[in-house]
Amino acid sequence: MNQKIIIAIDGYSSSGKSTLAKAISKKLKYKYIDSGAIYRSIALFAIRKKIFDSDLWNTQNFISLLKEINLKFKWNKKYNRTDIFLNEENIQSKIRSEKVTTKVSLIAQLPEVREKLTFMQRNIGKNKGIVIDGRDVGNYVFPKSELKIFMKGSIEIRSYRRYQDLKKRGEEVSYEEVKKNLIYRDIMDTSRKISPLKKSADSIEIDNTFMSMEEQLNLIFQLIHKKKNK
Ligand code: DC
Repeated sequence: MNQKIIIAIDGYSSSGKSTLAKAISKKLKYKYIDSGAIYRSIALFAIRKKIFDSDLWNTQNFISLLKEINLKFKWNKKYNRTDIFLNEENIQSKIRSEKVTTKVSLIAQLPEVREKLTFMQRNIGKNKGIVIDGRDVGNYVFPKSELKIFMKGSIEIRSYRRYQDLKKRGEEVSYEEVKKNLIYRDIMDTSRKISPLKKSADSIEIDNTFMSMEEQLNLIFQLIHKKKNK
């Protein structure tokens, strides 16, 4: 049978989840959901509301602002990609900055934020036919996903990839700073009380430290083929 499935890709920061997820969604003509983009959008909103400007970052005050947030994904024909909109403003190019990256883990640990964003993701995926990447998508958001992948890679390779990415975008950062932030995010992602990053028993682990993109895609398409034709 060739029915539509949910493909959930979780893993460490900068482990290549999104590149892989995008390539799969393109080939299968599935919707791609970048769940990290949703968390980043909330962090951008919090930065703009100056939530982090005082020494004491006041969680309760921030939570009361959550109802002002309306997020949507829309297809961008010009760049052939899905962009994220915060209250009708296209913020796709603003959510990858180091400023957002350093604050997003604080936002991602709030139960009220996770509840709102889990609801949003389940709604987008209710008809299946999606590839979604994140930290808790296989374990928590879509626990019945037909295919669950868990991605990892050495801290050095992940830092190098992210560093190259930021340099390409013209951001002034050093390799050491990027590595420090990745180590911090790994700790925050895996030690968070709610929905921490964790490989589930039914997910397939891919360590891509020494794997090319082509090798990863070949492996994943073999797995998809098996699942879709079960
Ligand atoms: O995938 P990313 O680096 O763009 O994600 C940014 C942050 O969002 C990451 O540090 C943790 C958080 N996140 C999360 O808690 N749960 C998800 N499903 C996706 C991202």
